[in-house]
Amino acid sequence: MLIKSPPSWQMPEREATPEHVFLNRRHFLAAIAGGAAALGTNLIGGSAFAAGTADPTADLYPAKRNGIYALDRPLTKESDAAAYNNFYEFGSHKRIAMEARKLKVRPWTVSFEGMVEKERQVDIDTLIRAMPIEERLYRMRCVEAWSMAVPWSGFALAELVKYARPLSSAKYLVMQTFHDKKMASGQKQVWYPWPYTEGLTMAEATNELAFMVTGVYGKPLPKQFGAPLRLAAPWKYGFKSVKSIVRFEFTDKRPVTFWEQIQAAEYGFWANVNPKVSHPRWSQASERVLGTTKRVPTLLYNGYGEQVAHMYKDLKGEKLFM
Ligand code: MTE
Repeated sequence: MLIKSPPSWQMPEREATPEHVFLNRRHFLAAIAGGAAALGTNLIGGSAFAAGTADPTADLYPAKRNGIYALDRPLTKESDAAAYNNFYEFGSHKRIAMEARKLKVRPWTVSFEGMVEKERQVDIDTLIRAMPIEERLYRMRCVEAWSMAVPWSGFALAELVKYARPLSSAKYLVMQTFHDKKMASGQKQVWYPWPYTEGLTMAEATNELAFMVTGVYGKPLPKQFGAPLRLAAPWKYGFKSVKSIVRFEFTDKRPVTFWEQIQAAEYGFWANVNPKVSHPRWSQASERVLGTTKRVPTLLYNGYGEQVAHMYKDLKGEKLFM
């Protein structure tokens, strides 16, 4: 599909945003936070629910931290991470938190389809309560060359795979976001191949690092982060971490993912982080740490090589790092 003007996240933010706008973001943030306070809402760290409606799983947070996943850098401030999001269903810019409040997160049903013993649907609260919820501190590296470090809560994707009971012949797990253009006005943009689709190999999906996120900063997941269920695959560029999932399909065919359908030459299936492989339009050697003006060197597999590199050693001729 031909996109005449690439969306802003497809370029490093310093190219996507004039510097004075970027530097003025603090004022903008203060303004929207003030506006939210005036409306009686909690936009920045806010719950995914309207005031007065409790999240049915709120009692599960804060979850016990799994200390194995330690960080080499400070956590990103909640107010920074919650006000700088990519969620194209609600707009092609970063300040989608207010618009994303239109996302209706209950009732929410998740389906398991394709190569499974039995196709079925499950209510999100039943699913979350069936899973061992824990907190993990993960780095997140966006393809646009910015990064953050966040305390996700959720459960290993491997647990969900077990729950879904796939056939041994399944080779890929495809994950899809909702499709509802009345609720999410971004989906009226017909040139995007909705719904947002991502996929992992079964080895990746059952790797210990692949994580289903249901909460962040010790609370249920706010809407702009992709409530009520999203992926965190921290060794891959952030666009792999699909938000607000409603469908899991097990298949033996490699899916063509959302951004791959739009620009296959720039966004591939694998998308593993590698500082030595530049994006066709910018370097991936370093990253800006969200909430700071600091740049730090980017690490191979975003620093998670020990857990994931073995999965790729026999894959010849694949573009593993785009
Ligand atoms: N999932 C959906 N459904 N829609 C999106 O636009 N954006 C992706 C990913 N998952 C996106 C998505 C991109 S480009 C990034 S960098 C991360 O979500 C951003 O996650 P965050 O907003 O929690 O930082």
